[in-house]
This record gives sequence, structure tokens and C-alpha cells, in this order.
Amino acid sequence: MSVENLMLLFIFSFMISSPFSHATPVMVSASDLNSLPKSIIQTTPIKFVGPSTVELDLNDEEITLLAQHFHKLKGRCGGFVTGASVNETHKSFSSATIPSELKRQPEVLNLIPQVEESRMSDTIKWFSSYPTRFYLTDEGKQAMEDLAKKWRDLTKDLPNAEVTLFQHKDWAQPTVVLKIKGLSPEEIILGGHGDSINTDTNDIHAPAPGADDNASGISVLTEIIRVLAKNKYQPKSTLTFMAYSAEEVGLRGSMDVSAYYLDQGIPVKGVLQFDGTNFKGSQELGMILVEDLTSPSLNNLMEKLINTYLKLPWAYDRCGYACSDHYSWTFRGFASTFPFESRLNEENSHIHTPGDLFSVSGNNAHHAVPFARLGLAYALEMDQ
Ligand code: BES
Ligand code: ZN
Repeated sequence: MSVENLMLLFIFSFMISSPFSHATPVMVSASDLNSLPKSIIQTTPIKFVGPSTVELDLNDEEITLLAQHFHKLKGRCGGFVTGASVNETHKSFSSATIPSELKRQPEVLNLIPQVEESRMSDTIKWFSSYPTRFYLTDEGKQAMEDLAKKWRDLTKDLPNAEVTLFQHKDWAQPTVVLKIKGLSPEEIILGGHGDSINTDTNDIHAPAPGADDNASGISVLTEIIRVLAKNKYQPKSTLTFMAYSAEEVGLRGSMDVSAYYLDQGIPVKGVLQFDGTNFKGSQELGMILVEDLTSPSLNNLMEKLINTYLKLPWAYDRCGYACSDHYSWTFRGFASTFPFESRLNEENSHIHTPGDLFSVSGNNAHHAVPFARLGLAYALEMDQ
């Protein structure tokens, strides 16, 4: 009997012997996640138990649905394993270093009022003025090189700051990386994608201003960097800022970068993603935390940071698929978190079109300001 048949026998004997429908841990390959039926992915907590394996807790009905799904998709059974949770064997991917208490309130409370909306407006205006930042264009490459220069200027008086370009093997637009080095090699990462896309046409030069998606995230990162540099902030761990290349074409930039980190064994405390920060799509909410494909323990910290330092109404929502660069880190086994601008079904309808303009957000960056405050709070409170 093949391994796959054995697995199936195990699943079905379990189903027959179980008189009640209760949750069973099911391991699936992370690369299969995006193809799973929506009814499963949107209602089930997803736990990463290894760099390429996720655990879903499914009831009997859902397991049947999953078996049918893999049957149709792959023309065979299996494609997943059920059994006891293997979480224990992957302790290195757990959240031991994520603080559970806030210990740096005086410093955070000093920094967060220094965030300036007008500076964030200026960055959005500037970065969305490139005709396109599509990853295959010269303008897209130029925009990233200009951003590197801006981050270099902002940090020129910080002795331990260095800006480099991470070059990708298969295309020319680099990922921009700023490190403010601490005494410990562990990194606290904040990132967002710098590229843009116009999905109306196949013309790579078609206008793609990407003001919300994602000049708004770049403006958040840039303002955090400005405030930290102005205050001559010296971290204990290394603080790393990234403007990823090629997110819009399948998270290609961040997949490269996160593979490099895994490969080099660089220790990472956590990764915060900013992708979409300036569109107030949900009138009664200031912020959303993306719950799926992110780290529950890092999200716990984010809840505390929002309630303590921002005091604005927020809610959890789910993307339902690998919707941004946080996933590349989750996929490699690192803890990631993704605060977002609106509920997913109330998202800015102009993204990926020539209409993704600053004017859609009223030519101001008010909605993005708390995201920069949150990033500052995260940078300091993670750095204990
Ligand atoms: N900013 C979007 C992601 C997004 C859109 C999040 C709407 C939440 C609501 C991002 O730049 C994007 O477009 N991602 C791609 C995924 C990727 C794998 C190509 C997408 O959603 O199609
Ligand atoms: Zn985006």
C-alpha cells in the first residue's frame, strides 16, 4: 500500500470511528494554500508549523471537502496529512522573543507625536509621481534607487545606519534595505513593497501611480526612519527597513529576500508589513489586522500597541490568500504581522489602475499617520 493510501485509510478510519464532528489537525503544504476552497480558508485558523507546512484544524465535513478538492486538482487522493499537531517539533519557529509586556512607554510616548502628516503627504506625492514603478521598467528601477538615496540622506548622521540595494537575479529593480545596527544580530524588520502595477493592460509602461498601493506604505516607513534618525535612536537589536521589489507579480522580491535570510540563518524577531495605509474604506475603523497567514503572538503584541498607543477602533479581518509580502516571511517560518487600511471587502477600488492617485484619499495622509506611530511603537517595544 502506498503512503498516500495509508494516509487516506487513516483519515477515513478516523472519520468513521468519530461519532462527533470535532476539529482534527490537518497538515497541508504551504504552496497549496492559495488553491484551497474558500470555505475552508476563510473560516479556519491557519498555523505555520514549519517553513513549508501549515496546520488547519478541520471538522469531518471540511476534511471530506479537502479530499475532494485535492482529487479534482491533482487527479489523486491525499496532498495533505492529518494527525497530531507537529508544532512541538518546530519550536525554532515559535515566538519566544516576542515581548508580552510593553516596557518602553516613556520613549514611545515621546516619539509618536513627532510623526508629521505633511511629510507623509510629500512622500506619497513624490513616489506616486513616477509614471510607473512596475518591476521591469527603468522608471521602476530608478524609483527604488532614488528611495535608497532618500533613506541614506535621512540617516546620514546615524553612525550605525547603512542602506544597500538587494539585487535580484532575474530582474533589475532592486529591493532597498536600510539597517540600523544594534549590538545583537537579531533583526526587527519593517517593510512594504515599492513596485506598482497597472492590470488594465499588458503594456509594462502603462501608467501605474500606485499612490495607495503602495506609496502610502513607503511613506509610513520613510516617516518612521525620519523620526528615529532625528532622535539619534540606537537600537539594541538591528532595525531593518525594506522596500521590496516585485510584490505585484507574485511576491517575488520578498520571496527572494526571505529565502536569503533563511539560508544565511539570520535571526529575525518579527516582520511588520505596510501595504495600503491611506484609504479609509471602513468608516468606523481606523485599522485592520490581517489575521490569516500572520503570527498570532506577534498579532497579540500589535493589539496591545494599538490599544495603548493609538486608542483607535480596529478589527481583525482575513485576506483569504497570500495577499502581500508578510506571507513570504510566514512561508519561511518567521513571525509576521500586517496592519491594513480597511476591511478587505471595503478596499480601495482604484488600486492597480491609473486611478490609484493621492486625490482618492483627499490629497492628505491623515489615515496613514497612525500606521507610522504603530511602526515606531513596534520598533521600540520589540527592541527589549
Ligand atoms: N496591496 C495589495 C494587496 C491587497 C489588496 C491587500 C487588497 C488587501 C486588499 C497587493 O499589492 C496585491 O495586489 N497583492 C496581490 C497578491 C500577489 C500574490 C500578486 C493580489 O492581491 O492580487
Ligand atoms: Zn500592495
